[in-house]
Amino acid sequence: MFSERVVSGMRPTGALHLGHYHGAIKNWLKLQSELPCLFFVADWHALTTLYDDPKILEQYTWETVVDWLACGIDPTQATLFIQSRVPEHAELTLLLGMSTPLSWLERVPTYKDQIEKLKDKELGTYGFLGYPLMQAADVLIYRASQVPVGEDQAPHIEMMREIARRFNYLYGREKGFEEKAQEAVKKLGSKRAKLYMELRDRFQQEGSDEALEQGRALLQEAQNLAAMDRERLFGYLEGARRIILVEPATILTETPRLPGIDGNKMSKSYGNTIALREEPAQVTQKIRKMPTDPARVRRTDPGDPEKCPVWLLHQVYSSDDVKKWVVQGCKSAGIGCLECKQPVIDEIIRETTPFRERAQKYLDDPTLIRNIVADGCDKARELARETMRDVREVMGIAA
Ligand code: TRP
Ligand code: SF4
Repeated sequence: MFSERVVSGMRPTGALHLGHYHGAIKNWLKLQSELPCLFFVADWHALTTLYDDPKILEQYTWETVVDWLACGIDPTQATLFIQSRVPEHAELTLLLGMSTPLSWLERVPTYKDQIEKLKDKELGTYGFLGYPLMQAADVLIYRASQVPVGEDQAPHIEMMREIARRFNYLYGREKGFEEKAQEAVKKLGSKRAKLYMELRDRFQQEGSDEALEQGRALLQEAQNLAAMDRERLFGYLEGARRIILVEPATILTETPRLPGIDGNKMSKSYGNTIALREEPAQVTQKIRKMPTDPARVRRTDPGDPEKCPVWLLHQVYSSDDVKKWVVQGCKSAGIGCLECKQPVIDEIIRETTPFRERAQKYLDDPTLIRNIVADGCDKARELARETMRDVREVMGIAA
């Protein structure tokens, strides 16, 4: 139950663009080959701000899945599903809400930021305040060990760790826990049991993180333990509690912010995106229209790449040689701006061609994608149900 597992979600906001690819999906591609991964379309999260326009949500949701597959997310490696098809997420959100202080939610930096940013929209809603709580449920319900997210999401992960800790503190008190844990210690075998108790002491008395890590590793390797005993021993290591919900670690996706075609961060709200499956003619047109260093009024005027948004794209897409050519050519007016843009155009088209090719299969036969998602939802639901059984039991609502 404490195995490695990655969970991440993405709100469906329409066709994904190159910013999504460089900012998140590239990282998912790497993770899917290393660890079991669950990737889901966070359609309920989208409703927190799109509640007045739900019609486009369904289309966006499927588009998002097509885009993932187009990028090479592989349904034989990763589990792909849609949040709303696993209603257990809602149940856990509700139950976690019982013990989550309002102040934790109000303190999340994205809360006030977004309300400020989306001024035209009424976001003083219960649903929007609860956004990070729902996100906590998304992850905790799978007992994920890791969550890959961008920097802006780090406070959400921090809060979900606090929520898990609080939950375990409140509900991990099992009758006779101490005795049961001590019985389980014996099952480790005398050598391991002794080491375990030493590590436990070192963590509890000296707060040694290293001891905690070693203790966890020891339990990870103790293959002959029953799941229940293992769970107790994880809890006993840290205190006298059973661990029901696992605190996930953040995997920060550090990427150079991909600039859009105006030099600002690529984002749908700025209208400066290049879609993942943009047609080559469109890519060409968009890049050719990009503004450049304003000093280059005429072809013969020298410029400075540092003052040009095209240069930011060269930093993502071009080799050192090409970059050298740009700097020299720009400063000496040896090259024109359209000439300078061509290698970027070529690279983006080269990068996106396989995306369009892979997507075609799914666009031609939508049942393929329906089946992938149906399978993914089944797998996710099974894991979610397991956690919910434990959650209900400790909360006294097991029926
Ligand atoms: N809030 C995330 C975002 O806007 C999307 C999201 C929802 C998510 N639930 C999640 C990300 C769970 C990681 C894990 O990017
Ligand atoms: Fe920008 Fe290239 Fe033109 Fe220089 S030559 S201003 S870097 S597009």
